[in-house]
Amino acid sequence: MNKDIQSIVLTEAQIKEKVAAAAVWLDKRYEGKNPLFISVLKGSVMFFCDLVRAMETPVQMDFMTVSSYGAGSESSGMPKIVMDLAANVKDRHVVLVEDIVDSGYTLQRMKELMSGRGAASFTTVALFDKPARRKVDIKADYACFEIGDEFIVGYGLDYAQQYRNLPYVGILKREIYEK
Ligand code: PRP
Repeated sequence: MNKDIQSIVLTEAQIKEKVAAAAVWLDKRYEGKNPLFISVLKGSVMFFCDLVRAMETPVQMDFMTVSSYGAGSESSGMPKIVMDLAANVKDRHVVLVEDIVDSGYTLQRMKELMSGRGAASFTTVALFDKPARRKVDIKADYACFEIGDEFIVGYGLDYAQQYRNLPYVGILKREIYEK
């Protein structure tokens, strides 16, 4: 285990189980609908790639980079679109894939944006839900795992752009982000 990790929240095997269950939920909803799956980069990259590969329904994929945390642990409250989609979402069934819903600002912003662009439907799937930190009244339609107010990293989630490539999700030692 990485020396900066205090304990593991989800092992690789547990992640695989959660991903498989989410894929079943999505397959039931989207069979024959040609959905457009959007990965909110960078955090969702690992989850997104595993999720679409676990599904049987053919999907189209696009990517958007949205950032609001910078190097800190508090949301700026104003998620910034660093890189926009290539696809036109008008009349499309959009599925937004997130690694985590924390304050909810990112999800809220994406929902407004997709509705403004004329998406036919908008569904959100998140690996983690952290309801204790919510600032706006919003939730993912499907969340794989609910977590308390711990600082988690790995499997796409970062602290100051580090730890994203850990294959598991773990709680970061407090001394790392409080130093
Ligand atoms: C993280 C995460 C979500 C968002 C959730 O992204 O990937 O997109 O924050 O937080 P919120 O509910 O408080 O908005 P971040 O802005 O850190 O960028 P990253 O994905 O590149 O790490």
